[in-house]
Amino acid sequence: MNPTKSFLQISSSEVSTIHELLTVAQRYKDYPSNFDVQGSGRTGAFLFFEASTRTRMSFELAAHRLGFNIISLEGSKGSSIEKGETLLDTVLNVAAMKPDFMVIRSGDDLDLNNLNLGFPIINAGWGKVEHPSQALLDVLTLKQKWGNLSGKKVLILGDSRYSRVVGSHVELAKKLDYEVRFFGPEQMLRERSHFTDLHEALSWCDAVMALRVQKERHQEELEYSDKYALTPESLKSLKANSWILHPGPMNYGVEVFNGILNEPRSLILKQVENGVYVRMSIISQLLKG
Ligand code: CP
Repeated sequence: MNPTKSFLQISSSEVSTIHELLTVAQRYKDYPSNFDVQGSGRTGAFLFFEASTRTRMSFELAAHRLGFNIISLEGSKGSSIEKGETLLDTVLNVAAMKPDFMVIRSGDDLDLNNLNLGFPIINAGWGKVEHPSQALLDVLTLKQKWGNLSGKKVLILGDSRYSRVVGSHVELAKKLDYEVRFFGPEQMLRERSHFTDLHEALSWCDAVMALRVQKERHQEELEYSDKYALTPESLKSLKANSWILHPGPMNYGVEVFNGILNEPRSLILKQVENGVYVRMSIISQLLKG
């Protein structure tokens, strides 16, 4: 990866870059103490204008492990956004402090593709557009089970219309040759479903990714869990060797049941672990040289 480039969308990433990021991430997992601490006092500016636990903390841990310093802003509280400063001005002012890279989570209102800051920018979840590091960690998690995703069938269950994770998976599926299909309430679907019910959808897939109902992005009020939730009963339709993912955070009693983390086919906490390696890989590949 060229050090002057940013990591904003899977759609603008080369297939070779994606393979390289996954290979390096797996190396960080396999050899946890055998890598260069390449930060050398350089600094990452972390601007999280929307809430986050997994993405923010794993990017921070990744940067620390690689020897980078971090300066950070979380939400508007305590920042001059409270006094009316725009998000764009906030970005430009922090950029004027000359960090070596920036990690940004924001809504749709900030156009990451039009920020030319003179250093790499990493998309940590951008509105409804894309969440590329999440899709990469999902794929790394499945690769560790399957070796290769080519020809595999992934069901995305739930609120796909409003999901930035799905935006990245649709692009990643084209590049890595896995198939993505959708099931959920019609008004939440990104495209027309192939399935008439949850049993049919779960029987089809090699992995199911349940999505959080994103109440902050729309006003849909639905009887969701009866028809679309992963429960001990509905999971009887999932093949014994199929896997369960969820990008988090989860709504228990809505899209998943309370015991999902203990379900033997669940890879949900593996996804979180792999998030650290994937984010180490993204930072190290952008900042190398
Ligand atoms: N998956 C994900 O982006 O989680 P956070 O919102 O906690 O970062």
